[in-house]
Amino acid sequence: MEYLQIEGGNRLRGEIRVSGMKNSALPVIFATVLIKDECIIENVPRVSDVFCALDILTSMGARVEWCEKHTVLIDTSWLCGEVKEYEKISKMRASSYLMGVLLARFDSVKIPMPGGCNFGGRPIEQHLKGFCLLGAECLENNGFVEICAKKHLKSTKITLDKISVGATINIVLASVLLDGVTTIDNCAIEPHVDDVICFLNRAGAKVIRKGRRIYCEGVSSLHGVKYRIFPDMIEALTYFTMLGATGGDITLTGVNYEHLSYSAIIFQSMGMCVDSYYDEVRLRAFDRLSGARVVTAPYPFFPTDLHPQFAAMLCFTKDGGEVREEIFPSRFAYISELERMGANITKSNNVARVLPSELYAASTYATDLRAGAALVVGALGASGQSTINNVNYIVRGYEDLTGKISSLGGKIKLLKGE
Ligand code: EPZ
Repeated sequence: MEYLQIEGGNRLRGEIRVSGMKNSALPVIFATVLIKDECIIENVPRVSDVFCALDILTSMGARVEWCEKHTVLIDTSWLCGEVKEYEKISKMRASSYLMGVLLARFDSVKIPMPGGCNFGGRPIEQHLKGFCLLGAECLENNGFVEICAKKHLKSTKITLDKISVGATINIVLASVLLDGVTTIDNCAIEPHVDDVICFLNRAGAKVIRKGRRIYCEGVSSLHGVKYRIFPDMIEALTYFTMLGATGGDITLTGVNYEHLSYSAIIFQSMGMCVDSYYDEVRLRAFDRLSGARVVTAPYPFFPTDLHPQFAAMLCFTKDGGEVREEIFPSRFAYISELERMGANITKSNNVARVLPSELYAASTYATDLRAGAALVVGALGASGQSTINNVNYIVRGYEDLTGKISSLGGKIKLLKGE
């Protein structure tokens, strides 16, 4: 098994380019099922979840070709409706988007319950609520989800009971080819939602988001398109936390600062210098940062996907702080692994309380994607040589982590264990 070896205690200096956003590349890839034509998708991150999504489409008859390092051609003209690669689907949350696109194209879909990072249940009742209101019958049975249109799906008005990125995107995918206008109220407004809407509109759809309401005016068909994925805001913010742990002076290029602005203000309030210019942001920290208390919430507020990394960074601040998790209450598995490095973190209900801690080298295990990223943050700031196992979790969402950290002066290697 592969593992990361990190020699901590080095300040980071240099410049890296942020990759395309995993959490919009995945729905955009699945959205090509709605388009019987060639689509060229640019700025696609080379991460394992993307390879998994492309494998799933290929197994169903799609033509998939990497034109350049980050550009992939997808043609689903000859796609069959039968889903294969059950194991891959059951491991990845984003495969839930197959429900919306296969329902729209084939009027029915049967897939294994989608998986995802293991921090508690990952329910899909909001997705199914939307499909049922559009006129489908939904059945969860023996670990599978079966959905079929009773006659034909019909546009309608939908109000989500809770803000859900996945349900928002899935219902849009199921609605773009329906006659009439479907509205979705209480929708998610994360950048990856807008990324998917932009892609669909570029392909001929008519989707408008105004605040937390989406209007989806159905069209008869979509056409092939060339589209560039938005930059990954969580990858960018993860590098903010790395700098907060090590100190130094780094520049991130290819970012969309608007997506980062709420969190960037928090880092600035802690003493980090954050200077943005066009699609670049320069981060500097030369003294220990002050502490902070944050609460996770849907965009545009503090993202839950930054919680573990931010908690790890708080260990290296003068005052420590707190992270209150309001979206995934079970997202705390990272704490026990950081404690192996000497972190002083206590969980009380849905709050992680972090005291300033002198972290030292340890052998740790990633338990999910962002928990793994938190261990990288901890190891970079700790003294000595740490190892991080279960790298398979981390490579799901971070492209070329070792290359990027090495180019910033971090001492990191990807090694093969026995
Ligand atoms: C997406 O997951 C992301 N994953 C997650 O990123 C991210 O943490 C999450 O959005 C929130 O921003 C992908 O895009 C592949 P939700 P998703 O539906 O769509 C509850 C990462 O690290 N809920 O917005 O599954 C749910 O349990 C991953 O990149 C229901 O109760 O998230 C959660 O408490 C981790 N019923 C809240 O809503 C539903 O039907 C938000 O979930 C759907 C969701």
